Amino acid sequence: MIYVLWGELYASVFERVKSSIGNTGRVLLAYNTNIDAVKYLGRKDLEERVEKAGKDEVFRYIDSLPGRIENVPQLLGSILWSVKRGKAAELFVESCSTRFYMKRWGWDELRMGGQAGIMANLLGGAYGVPVIVHIPQLSNLQASLFKGGPIYTPKAENGKLRFVHPRDFAGDEENCLHYIYEFPRGFRVFEVEAPRENRFIGSADDYNPNVYIRAEFKERFGEIAEGVELAIISGLQALTAENYREPLEVIEGHLETLNELEIPVHLEFAFTPDETVRKALLGLLGKFWSVGLNEVELASVMDVMGEKSLAEKLLARDPVDPIAVTEAMIKLAERTGVRRIHFHTYGYYLALTDYRGEFVRDALLFSALAAAAKAKLGDVRSIDDVIRAMDVPVNEKAKPVEDALVKEYGMKNGIAEVNGYQLAFIPTKIVMKPKSTVGIGDTISSSAFVGEFALH
Ligand code: AMP
Ligand code: GLC
Repeated sequence: MIYVLWGELYASVFERVKSSIGNTGRVLLAYNTNIDAVKYLGRKDLEERVEKAGKDEVFRYIDSLPGRIENVPQLLGSILWSVKRGKAAELFVESCSTRFYMKRWGWDELRMGGQAGIMANLLGGAYGVPVIVHIPQLSNLQASLFKGGPIYTPKAENGKLRFVHPRDFAGDEENCLHYIYEFPRGFRVFEVEAPRENRFIGSADDYNPNVYIRAEFKERFGEIAEGVELAIISGLQALTAENYREPLEVIEGHLETLNELEIPVHLEFAFTPDETVRKALLGLLGKFWSVGLNEVELASVMDVMGEKSLAEKLLARDPVDPIAVTEAMIKLAERTGVRRIHFHTYGYYLALTDYRGEFVRDALLFSALAAAAKAKLGDVRSIDDVIRAMDVPVNEKAKPVEDALVKEYGMKNGIAEVNGYQLAFIPTKIVMKPKSTVGIGDTISSSAFVGEFALH
């Protein structure tokens, strides 16, 4: 019964977003843009490499990731760590010889990488929403990965700021390469088997992990922010206790400018291993309108808020207990004042907002459709690709999740009132054999955030 309802809601949302998304003004996207060199792992190749590097040495890392990658056994061991758990991980690759090893290992395709870059191609290239994007290093290769469409980056010339398409920037800067090692569900290496599709990322990049901010953005942010309607901030996840102060100071200044201009800003909260940085981000959250995170990220935030048992509850079950998620979101909203929290996990999304309306839920539906299209097709080339995910079935495993929300909060049609907030829920569409997993989270968060303003 209930799935008839979701089928109808999914069917009605696409046209509404399609016809209104063109009215959204410019979206600012900062800070991380890079090149993803994607390698689809093969069993034989990987096993041979592990043997050659020394199986014992490699297997030392399968149960505990190194802090950063300093040699080949650490690289291969970290890949196995991801495979064993079916979990994503990303580490900075320090050593030049390991960077060279990855380069010679090669890749199957080069793609746009980094949340800001990926969102620029989705919002600007596929949806036709004008975007301004921060690109720490603009090499020819980086520029060539941008789609056509209303995508702009600021360029200072003779004291003037011009907004140009990245391909017209004519920059000859460095390549920031992230090597993405993807594996499908059931992928086997020796006795290790992947419970779910995912990837390990080794970043051979000295700019994005340190949140290097271009001079144009440091010196002329006021001019860049003028004429912007929405902003999405990402890429702060790799900062450490040693290097976070300077970039966060600049970013805080940017947030103040955006707040003065009353521009809603979303923070895409990727997994941030450093506790000091996570605490600092928590401190900044009140300056954001919205934040997007998954269960691991929400648990890690509860952890630094001193909510250890809630953090454990968030990681205890699959699908994640939605009552624990709601409690965590309320704690986060009350503590920071952030107005919207978008939680996404494998199978369902929730949004807690201090404002009300079905458009919040409907934007989630649109974003789930976009995510399924991305998983199914590998790339969303135009907004019409999104509707191609309509035939992906609604995830039935979300039924007990919905039942729990109905019982606990009297939720109706995916909407409930909880502690003075609106809670919106949707079951997602899951693609059984996704083409690739990287960038799905970015597709979800940006489609939901921008979709919400388009629908409102
Ligand atoms: P993240 O956790 O930020 O990497 O984002 C990954 C999100 O993508 C998950 O929370 C899921 O909601 C979604 N996702 C992952 N795999 C699939 C799939 N095969 N089909 C649809 N959505 C998926
Ligand atoms: C991180 C990675 C980047 C990847 C992106 C996908 O930003 O550094 O390589 O493209 O996540 O979400």
